[in-house]
Amino acid sequence: MQDFEQFIGSFSFDNRLSEVDIIASIAHAKMLVKANIISINDGNKIISGLNSILKDLQAGWLLPQEEDVHYAIERELIHRIGEVGGKMHTARSRNDQIATDLRIYIKQEIDTIKDIINSFQKVLIKKAEENIDVVMPGFTHLQPAQPILAAHHLLAYVWMLDRDKQRLLDCYKRTNILPLGSAALAGTSFPIDRSFTAKLLGFDSVSENSLDAVSDRDFAIEFVYCISMISLHLTRFCEEIILWMNPEFAYISLDDKFTSGSSIMPQKRNPDCAEVIRGKSGRVFGDLLALLTIVKSLPLAYNRDLQEDKPPVFDACDNIKMSLDVMVEMIKTLKFIKENTLKSTEKGFMAATELADYLAKQGVPFRTAHGIVKDLLFYCQKNHKTLNELSLEEYNKFSSIFKQDIFGYLDSKNIANMKTSYGATSKKSIILQMKNIKRTLK
Ligand code: ARG
Repeated sequence: MQDFEQFIGSFSFDNRLSEVDIIASIAHAKMLVKANIISINDGNKIISGLNSILKDLQAGWLLPQEEDVHYAIERELIHRIGEVGGKMHTARSRNDQIATDLRIYIKQEIDTIKDIINSFQKVLIKKAEENIDVVMPGFTHLQPAQPILAAHHLLAYVWMLDRDKQRLLDCYKRTNILPLGSAALAGTSFPIDRSFTAKLLGFDSVSENSLDAVSDRDFAIEFVYCISMISLHLTRFCEEIILWMNPEFAYISLDDKFTSGSSIMPQKRNPDCAEVIRGKSGRVFGDLLALLTIVKSLPLAYNRDLQEDKPPVFDACDNIKMSLDVMVEMIKTLKFIKENTLKSTEKGFMAATELADYLAKQGVPFRTAHGIVKDLLFYCQKNHKTLNELSLEEYNKFSSIFKQDIFGYLDSKNIANMKTSYGATSKKSIILQMKNIKRTLK
């Protein structure tokens, strides 16, 4: 049973919260002084002791192992300043302490993740601007559908990231509530001033129900859900990068730093970074499920199961930050091979919808126009011809409405740029779209 202490404890993972824990304890000690619960003199000893531990931790010194980070810091404080250090734990419990620490940690991480998302959005917008004239196939069901501008495709991800950021900000609001002062579960008979502590720690408000405050982890679950959604969005982009790198597509190239060769097949360039980011989503989604399961069915109030919440939160957080960082650097090096993307739009009859719209604009009911173009495509396939290779006479076999100008409707770039509705793929619509998204970055 030699590892029992380690099994039951959480120090091996929650010591990551040591700086946060000290910051919360300093605020608590200040409040105890202000509320005349401890003397100024004792308060000052506690605060300077905590500051000295903080300084040492920042210099790389390690706390001696204890059951958890709270005990470790309290023992060290008593070791440094004597028995008076024991006054720090007046009018609180480790239950409200850990709930507070985790909230502070998550608030800090939300700020960091938000900043990385911002830089990612800026990189994507810059890429979109640089490639504003690149035409590529747009797919549905991964089948050639209609030509689009590459910028439009890139900006689609910028909007997803915008929602990811909004979700995080929303989660921040619910995380920004101070549980400290709830003590073990029922509050305390000491005349504490919770609002004062909240102000010192930068919390918006204090929790209203002590039972809820010590046992609730929905802010953490919500945070990891937000991370999961970011991760999910990254997997979609990575999947496309992987496809676009495939020589069958050959739409893009990436800097060699983000790909690797095969130990056996000399010709290979594998999109490893995109694959790893895609794979990390498995861990992140697992973290979310772990948290849901840990909290499920727990009776009020605190239960020790809750200490298992930290590893999934840390894991999700570390992985999303790393994934986003790598993604930003990788996308900076993405180059469209525009001859290939253009050539690809000329395959697969992607002008078909435009032809049907051409007829519909002349009064043919769209459903009828759809049928005419379908017959036309069948004819092309049978005769091994593209839409460009047909003569006007051949077009007229299917409808007399087709005129010479029909050939102007077959050019991929024209097709994309004719789509000028709000939110559409034309250059004109995209310029407006960019203006709108840039406004959200300010
Ligand atoms: N290490 C614990 C956690 O992470 C702190 C609270 C422990 N409370 C208790 N009553 N045992 O949740």
